[in-house]
Amino acid sequence: MKLSVNEHTPKQGVTPELARRYSQWLVEEGIDGIELSCGSAVYSFMNMCRGDVPVNELALSAPTWQRPIAWFVIKRLSGKYDLVEGYNADGAKVIKPAMNGIPLLLVGGMRTVSRMEALISGGIADFISMSRPFIREPHLVKRIKEKKADKVSCVSCNKCLAAVPNSLPVQCHDKSFPKI
Ligand SMILES: Cc1cc2nc3c(=O)[nH]c(=O)nc-3n(C[C@H](O)[C@H](O)[C@H](O)COP(=O)(O)O)c2cc1C
Ligand code: SF4
Repeated sequence: MKLSVNEHTPKQGVTPELARRYSQWLVEEGIDGIELSCGSAVYSFMNMCRGDVPVNELALSAPTWQRPIAWFVIKRLSGKYDLVEGYNADGAKVIKPAMNGIPLLLVGGMRTVSRMEALISGGIADFISMSRPFIREPHLVKRIKEKKADKVSCVSCNKCLAAVPNSLPVQCHDKSFPKI
């Protein structure tokens, strides 16, 4: 199950303490593993996918007459969600003690192999999970296993994310975003 460790909602939503209690209940119910994320799709999607805010691409998804205002609203988010590698690791430290040995999968900004290995050997996570790096490099695991990659090539520009509200295929759009 994927669980948000901190929803970052305007009023109190799921906090790390609450997520810890939920994890404990889920473990008691016999869950196989929990993938720890953060944010909420409605209120704080940029917390979930930290990195650049693709202002132009997100604004494109608004109806033509609303685009200028959408652009200004989205522009205000710029620079507020810079990617910190492994940004859910602190949340994992809160949840892990409640897991009773059940695997904790950590997602969110995992970008270098050394950091992934450190989180696993340090007992913070049992598995490393990624989303955007696989959109860009579907064969990433093979390349890491063969020691051909020590970091991912995804630059966290979030243009693949902006593809969703624009009804475009989810693929790496870093170099060029399709004309709509
Ligand atoms: C195009 C796209 C769609 C996503 N859709 C979902 C979703 O439906 N549900 C969800 O929990 N997370 C969704 N995510 C968030 C990812 O699963 C992941 O938690 C987030 O991108 C952070 O991991 P990363 O830094 O490895 O990309 C989506 C991310 C992207 C880029
Ligand atoms: S568009 Fe490509 S580089 Fe940008 S976040 Fe998505 S996968 Fe990474």
